[in-house]
Amino acid sequence: MYAGGTDTTSTTLEWTMAELIRNPRTMKTLQNEVREVVKNKVEVDEDDLEKMLYLKAVTNESLRLHPPIPLLVPRELTQDTKVLGYDIISGTRVLMNAWAIARDSLLWEKPEQFYQERFLETNIDYKGLYFELIPFGAGRRGCPGVTFATTVYELALAKLVLNFNFELPNGAKIEQLDVSESSGLTMHKKFPLLVVVSPHTC
Ligand code: HEM
Repeated sequence: MYAGGTDTTSTTLEWTMAELIRNPRTMKTLQNEVREVVKNKVEVDEDDLEKMLYLKAVTNESLRLHPPIPLLVPRELTQDTKVLGYDIISGTRVLMNAWAIARDSLLWEKPEQFYQERFLETNIDYKGLYFELIPFGAGRRGCPGVTFATTVYELALAKLVLNFNFELPNGAKIEQLDVSESSGLTMHKKFPLLVVVSPHTC
């Protein structure tokens, strides 16, 4: 639980901040939504999150482009089965490439683009019912931490964009932001995100 539950959530948040900085229009729209919902309150709470539909779209799009566990968790077949005409025998170890599925151009329009609006026009989400998007896996052995993880992540994201503005250090341009991926069980940014943070004043 500690391994699966800490690195994954913080990695997702780092990728999201990188994408928001690369897409200033998205950052601005998200900040406007969060600031409008929270208004004069000091804290964001879970009830507020339900009113933030744009933030939910950003969550889905971040998990689509940057699933923190790209190959999910290895599983072993307990019985013979057939997939797309291929016989797979019991005992075979199976890896699900959730990263590739979420970037498949047969399933997604402009799959390489961070375009959260796509989730405002569809019911698809990350909860395991739509196999085009399975960052938490699916079925009985899917991630049991999905609700906890997304709530913690969304609260942190909402608080960050509510209270702060962000820019790259030393006047760097957004095109210079490196979004290479590292290899490993969890997929981090190859180079940590460095940003200059300034408090938001009304
Ligand atoms: C963004 C955050 C997270 C992501 C993307 C994620 C993703 C995953 C994935 C892909 C699996 C394997 C599912 C499968 O094989 O079908 C998994 C399993 C698991 N996750 Fe998460 N997870 C996250 C956060 C958490 C949190 C916060 C917790 C606990 C507090 C947690 C606990 C677990 C546990 C215990 C399993 C093993 C379940 C089993 O084998 O039956 N995860 N997670």
